[in-house]
This record gives sequence, structure tokens and C-alpha cells, in this order.
Amino acid sequence: MTTQCIAIFCSAATSQVPAPSPSLDGEVVGWISGYIPPDHIDTLFVWQVCVSEKARGRGLARRLITAVLARNVCADVTRIQSTITKDNGASWALFGSIAERLDTDLTRKAHFRRDDHFDGQHDTEFLVTIGPFEREALTIRSAA
Ligand SMILES: CC(C)(COP(=O)(O)OP(=O)(O)OC[C@H]1O[C@@H](n2cnc3c(N)ncnc32)[C@H](O)[C@@H]1OP(=O)(O)O)[C@@H](O)C(=O)NCCC(=O)NCCS
Repeated sequence: MTTQCIAIFCSAATSQVPAPSPSLDGEVVGWISGYIPPDHIDTLFVWQVCVSEKARGRGLARRLITAVLARNVCADVTRIQSTITKDNGASWALFGSIAERLDTDLTRKAHFRRDDHFDGQHDTEFLVTIGPFEREALTIRSAA
């Protein structure tokens, strides 16, 4: 991912889903970026979520995602999507936890394939879909 690509994405997407920036001792320790695809306005596509090693395991990533989902701009969102490589256990655990708290399903399928899309240079990215979920579940089961 080039810096230019990231800059273009951020300038186009942050107006759709502004992200909170959690901090620890004055240092930003979390980041989330995502967008609502124009042809799937029921879906928040999480492009990246990352938490500093020093702040992991405290529920921060989960709360970042649910905080974005709770925003007005996501009022019609009832599904989450992202892509994850098979070996990213922390991400599978994160999205599995969110699906469980939203009382809905998590499905996965190979999306960007190692040989077809990455010329063998990057592991296959699986498309993860969580949902559909009830908007009420955001406040009832996922706020903690
Ligand atoms: C994935 C990542 C964002 C998780 O951040 P985090 O703040 O530690 O995650 P949370 O504390 O919110 O954990 C959410 C759930 O996932 C589980 N989990 C998180 N990391 C885990 C790990 N390494 N192993 C097992 N379970 C894990 C937690 O136990 C929690 O489950 P629970 O709600 O049932 O208790 C973080 O590890 C990271 O930044 N990784 C590098 C970047 C990355 O791969 N991002 C994802 C792809 S864009």
C-alpha cells in the first residue's frame, strides 16, 4: 500500500466514517479506517483496525469498531465486512467476538487469492462478513 494510496483513501473516506483516536498517556494507541461502499449502504467495510502492542487485550479494537457503528453515519449499517489472512488469529478472534456480541453470524470466503491477485507474494485475504445484526444489539450487547 503506497502512501499516496493511503492519502487518497483517507481524504475520500474519513468524511464518511470519522474515526476516534484512543490514547494512552497522551500517545495515540489505536486506529480504525473504513468506509460504506456506495452500492452496499448497509455495510461498514473495515479497511484497517490496529492497536498498539502496549494497549492490546483491553477490548480497544472491539470498542473502536462498535463506536464507529454507533455513529449517525452508520445508521443504516447492519453488516460488517473486512479481509483477513488465515494466520491473523487476533483478527479472527476480534471479529468472532463482535459477531457473538451482536448475536449474528460470521461467514468467510477466499476473496483476494495468493496466486490470482498477489502473484504469490501475499497470503490469501479472506472476506469476512458479520451480520445482519439488529441495531439494538449495539447498545444491548456490545457496549461493555
Ligand atoms: C487485531 C487487533 C486490532 C486486536 O486489538 P485488541 O485491542 O487487542 O483487541 P480486543 O482487546 O478488542 O479483543 C477483542 C476480542 O478478540 C480477542 N483477541 C484479541 N487478540 C487476541 C489474540 N492475539 N489471541 C486470541 N484472542 C484475541 C480478545 O480476547 C477479545 O475477545 P473477547 O471479547 O471474547 O474477550 C490487534 O491485535 C492489532 O492491532 N493487530 C495488528 C493489526 C491487524 O492485524 N489488524 C487487523 C487487520 S486490519
